Amino acid sequence: MSITNFRSAGSGASAVASKITFQSLQEKKQAKQPITALTAYDYSTARIVDESGVDMILVGDSLAMVVMGYDSTLPVTVDEMLHHTRAVRRAVKRAIVVADMPYGSYHVSVAEGVANAVRFLKEAGAEAVKIEGGATRCELVERLTDAEVPVVCHLGLTPQAVHRMGGYKVQGKTVAAAEELARDARMLEAAGASAIVLEGVPREVAALITPQLQIPTIGIGAGPDCDGQILVFHDLVNLSFSRPAKFVRQYADASSLFRSAIEGYVHDVEARAFPDESESYHLPKETAASIAAPAPLLRKA
Ligand code: KIV
Repeated sequence: MSITNFRSAGSGASAVASKITFQSLQEKKQAKQPITALTAYDYSTARIVDESGVDMILVGDSLAMVVMGYDSTLPVTVDEMLHHTRAVRRAVKRAIVVADMPYGSYHVSVAEGVANAVRFLKEAGAEAVKIEGGATRCELVERLTDAEVPVVCHLGLTPQAVHRMGGYKVQGKTVAAAEELARDARMLEAAGASAIVLEGVPREVAALITPQLQIPTIGIGAGPDCDGQILVFHDLVNLSFSRPAKFVRQYADASSLFRSAIEGYVHDVEARAFPDESESYHLPKETAASIAAPAPLLRKA
């Protein structure tokens, strides 16, 4: 990097100054300003999410379910996640872009986890990766931090552990389980985590953990006392084709909107009402006239 290209936060173009970083997220926590986060998986939705002022965009492995149609997050691969992260990266200017490490990409060894995480920064332009799991991930978080890879950790209902949990169930419901989650969160912070997603835990547990940390907690199904909130884009706009979970608030019905737009299109094509004159290209008048009056065909003798 040339030193002439360097802009510290607060100097240079306003777009650069307002870029969200983990430092600015921590400042928001300290100032008690809620952090907004949402998933996105492609260029067009990521642009809308970014331009709407969301602070953090997660290319979540939930894309396995809401984009690819699998019934869990487990099948999505590193290459598929990289492909979607690149599309999101091209769209986003302000938000911090976090890529989810898919199941299997950091479970075999720490070295493999670091190598896969580096690909998300190097090949797809992510600014951080997200991994699921508690204290067992501390070594990985330390190694990623050493490798300059910011890490968002994910505790509570961790969808990649669906089989171990015996389904998608609220976690941390006993005193012991709540204390274990709080201890995990503190250990992950000490290992270098930049933020912690708390999913599917009682609001009291999120309220217990959040003030124990300097880094922000981002809740999903964890009540209002986290430092920020995240939802899956497709849940927010009713594109998930499933009964929404208790914690989902639908802000729009894109499913109905898209359906009625597409039904209108099908109707118009079938009725020959689309395209019309104004939606058609035209030849210059003279060329059109000569096409309209073709030379007579020669009769066979
Ligand atoms: O994959 C995902 O979308 C997530 C969020 C629900 C936090 O992990």
